[in-house]
Amino acid sequence: MLSDASPDEEGTAAPPGRRRPPGDRVALRGDLRSALPDAAAAVVVTALVFALLWARMESGASDTVAVMPFMDDPGTYWMYLLSQAFGWSGLLWAWGTVMLGLLLSGPRPARLPVSRQVLERWHRTTSLTTTALMSAHALMFAAELVRYETKVAWAERLWVAFADTFVPGWYDSGTGRIAIPLGQGALYLAIPLGLLFYVRHRIGANTWRRLHRFVIVVYVLSVWHTLLYGTNVWYGEWPRTVLWLLQLPVAALLLLRLLRPARRAERLGPPGGRGGAARPAWWARGLGRVVAGAVLVGLVVVVVSGRDGGRDRPTHPPATAPHAQETD
Ligand code: HEM
Repeated sequence: MLSDASPDEEGTAAPPGRRRPPGDRVALRGDLRSALPDAAAAVVVTALVFALLWARMESGASDTVAVMPFMDDPGTYWMYLLSQAFGWSGLLWAWGTVMLGLLLSGPRPARLPVSRQVLERWHRTTSLTTTALMSAHALMFAAELVRYETKVAWAERLWVAFADTFVPGWYDSGTGRIAIPLGQGALYLAIPLGLLFYVRHRIGANTWRRLHRFVIVVYVLSVWHTLLYGTNVWYGEWPRTVLWLLQLPVAALLLLRLLRPARRAERLGPPGGRGGAARPAWWARGLGRVVAGAVLVGLVVVVVSGRDGGRDRPTHPPATAPHAQETD
């Protein structure tokens, strides 16, 4: 979704006689520096979400407590709340960086509020911040598991928390058996797919471009994980509707990007014809467009019909909760 030339790589010339560090490393270092204001904004957003979740728990309005009544104490479960807050800022940043990527790789808008180079830089910095936020979300969940497991020795506490959080298939409780591997899949794909940009001189621009487009899978897995497991969007009420609604512009931009890609070589053209793609690639591209169109229609149906997979709020607290802790 990024162009091959990074504007930040300009100005990397070193004085004669001094060895120049590889361009990839310079680009990563430069982007990490540029990501600082972005990361600071993400920390502020995370803090605000954390404060909101804490206040809702204290006031008795928390949906997390409605799903898991034993959690009715923000002072004890603050790490869990912080994990949730990082999850939300991570998802928000993922949304932003995917929208920027689709804007850059789809039909060129007639007018942009900022230059293309600036949009590209924002795409790269927000993507670095997203990966950091996703990692913080998972790490805080692991930290909460370590805190919770007081009855076992330290080594076992650390191992169980690590395995439940990071080893696919280890977490064996309720919805988490599916939802946790989805989140892990998103995190484990986000790291290489995001960072490959900085080694594209070694792997080749075409390989990088081909791999980078799978980054949309990271986003889909993240949203799926949240809809399946997030207790604050557990019930079929407005927060869940908003989450579904936010996917409409992503699906619309994805469809536009596939129908009218910025790169001439990705346009559909006649199958196997001159200047067109070979037949298998043509069918793959055609199928991609049909799937994106179907997803867009599906999203509209979900939002309009209200059949969004949300559970009904029970009149009494549930006897069991979806997450491992109280079932241990
Ligand atoms: C190792 C990977 C991951 C693990 C172990 C993990 C774990 C969890 C758990 C246990 C919950 C339930 C929290 C609740 O009670 O609501 C959750 C929710 C959530 N996760 Fe993840 N997750 C992972 C990856 C991700 C990724 C990549 C994203 C994308 C940004 C993400 C975003 C969210 C969001 C937004 C929620 C909803 C929180 C809420 O309802 O307040 N997670 N995750």
